[in-house]
Amino acid sequence: VETLAAIASRRNVRAFADRPVSEEQLRRILDAGRLAPSGRNWQPWDFVVVTDRAQLQELAGVWVGARHVATSAATIAVIAPGDPEELQRARFDLGQAVMSIMLAAADLGVASGHAGCRDQDLARRVLGFPADRACAMLVALGYPVGRPLAAVRHDRRPFNQVVHWGTW
Ligand SMILES: Cc1cc2nc3c(=O)[nH]c(=O)nc-3n(C[C@H](O)[C@H](O)[C@H](O)COP(=O)(O)O)c2cc1C
Repeated sequence: VETLAAIASRRNVRAFADRPVSEEQLRRILDAGRLAPSGRNWQPWDFVVVTDRAQLQELAGVWVGARHVATSAATIAVIAPGDPEELQRARFDLGQAVMSIMLAAADLGVASGHAGCRDQDLARRVLGFPADRACAMLVALGYPVGRPLAAVRHDRRPFNQVVHWGTW
């Protein structure tokens, strides 16, 4: 898939087919996250990859918007500095890593869905990350149910409303 096609076809998927994503595909997706840019090349991320069904089901309890994690083929937990100020500084970088992960997934025909992570104690218990880290975001992955990823977008503000040439 061309990069622009991957950008256009990525959409949040919250219903996944009962079909695994191969370790090779997961490695390619994770590597895209690892290669993301960050301020002063800080790389304030670690990724915990979960594929075990019971672990995924437990992890889905961290936030009401994370239920789709339970049925994902794999979920990547993006682990960040736990100190609130550092976490705030890392947010932009983390967003770039998540976007790289999602675009790499789309490139491979794998669907992805963000999920926030509210219950840090539960996330720490399931994922085992150290006390000085926090789970910033979950990225659920799998093959989409219903329709394949495709460049259909009706839910975005129109180009001419968003883009201002030269001046506002
Ligand atoms: C920072 C951020 C947090 C999000 N958190 C959640 C979430 O907790 N649960 C969820 O189902 N979707 C979540 N989303 C997905 C957005 O709702 C989704 O990206 C948006 O509606 C646009 O739809 P699209 O991704 O299909 O283009 C999140 C997205 C972003 C960027």
